[in-house]
Amino acid sequence: MDATLQSALATAVERFVKGGVAEARLSAEVLLAHAIGRERVYLFAHPEETLTPEAGRSFRRFVGERLNGTPTQYITGRQEFFGRNFMVTPDVLIPRHETEHQVETVLRRQPGARHVADIGCGSGAIGVSLALERPSYDLTLTDISPAALRVARENAAALGAKVRFLCCDLGAALAPAYFDAVVSNPPYIPIEARERLPREVRDHEPHVALFGSGQGNGIYRRLIADAERILRPGGLLSFEIGYQDLETVSPMFGKDWRFIEANQDLAGWPRVLSAFFHPGGIGL
Ligand SMILES: C[S@@+](CC[C@H](N)C(=O)[O-])C[C@H]1O[C@@H](n2cnc3c(N)ncnc32)[C@H](O)[C@@H]1O
Repeated sequence: MDATLQSALATAVERFVKGGVAEARLSAEVLLAHAIGRERVYLFAHPEETLTPEAGRSFRRFVGERLNGTPTQYITGRQEFFGRNFMVTPDVLIPRHETEHQVETVLRRQPGARHVADIGCGSGAIGVSLALERPSYDLTLTDISPAALRVARENAAALGAKVRFLCCDLGAALAPAYFDAVVSNPPYIPIEARERLPREVRDHEPHVALFGSGQGNGIYRRLIADAERILRPGGLLSFEIGYQDLETVSPMFGKDWRFIEANQDLAGWPRVLSAFFHPGGIGL
C-alpha cells in the first residue's frame, strides 16, 4: 500500500528519533513538505493524501541524508532570516537566529547611517536584510570566499536588494573613513573546539565560516583595527561574539571607542558587542 503523508512522516520521525536527530518531528515535517513541494501546513491539512512514487523517493533520500548528519537547511536549500527566505548551500554558514540581533543593533543604534559594510557576509543574511529593512542604507558586503559571495549575490537578486560585493580579507578593499556602520559575524570558533562541535556543524558547514584561518580570538582584534580604518568619526561597529568571549574581547576596544554595549541573545548570553568610533574623543 502506498504511504500517506501521515504514515511517511511517522516512519521518518521514528528513524530520526532512533538515529539521534535533534528536533526529529520538525526535521521530518520540513523534509516531507520539501519533497512534495509544499509548505509544512499542507501536511496537517492533508494527512491522508498519498505520496507520489517520485516524492516518496525524494523523501527517502532526504531522510537518509539527514540521518548522515547533513543539516536540514542544506537539504532544502533555504533558511529563514529576519522574516525572509535565504538560499543556503554548503558554501555558506546557515544563518542563525541569534545573528538577527546584528540587524536590530545597527537599525537601533545607527538609524541615520548612509554607508554600511557587512564584513564576512556569507549568504548575505545581515547585509541584505539591512538593505531591505532600511532602503536609505547603502550596503557593501565583503567575504573572503568567492563561493559564498556567489550565494550572497543570488540572495540579493532574488530578494530585490541593491547592494555591492567585494571579495577581500575582512575590510581590506574598503575605502578609509567612509562608513557610518560596520557589522560582522566573523568566524570566531577556536580551531581547538572543532571536535566538540555537533557533527552537523563540524562536517558540513564551511570551515572558513567557522574558524576563519585559525585566527581564533585574533579575528576580533583584526576586525576592530579594520573598523578604525574604514569608519568615519562617530561610526558604529557591531559584531557577534562567542558566548564566552565578552571578557576577552571588550578590552580590545581602545581609547577611541565609546558607548560600548554588550547585548544578550534570547538564551541570556552576551553575543552582540557594539561601540562608536570617536578618534580623539567626542568634540563639544
Ligand atoms: C560566521 S560566517 C557569517 C556569515 C553570515 N554573515 C551570517 O551571519 O550568516 C563568517 C563569514 O566570514 C567569511 N570569512 C572568513 N574569514 C574571512 C576574512 N578573513 N575576510 C572576510 N571574510 C571572511 C566566511 O567565508 C564566512 O562567510
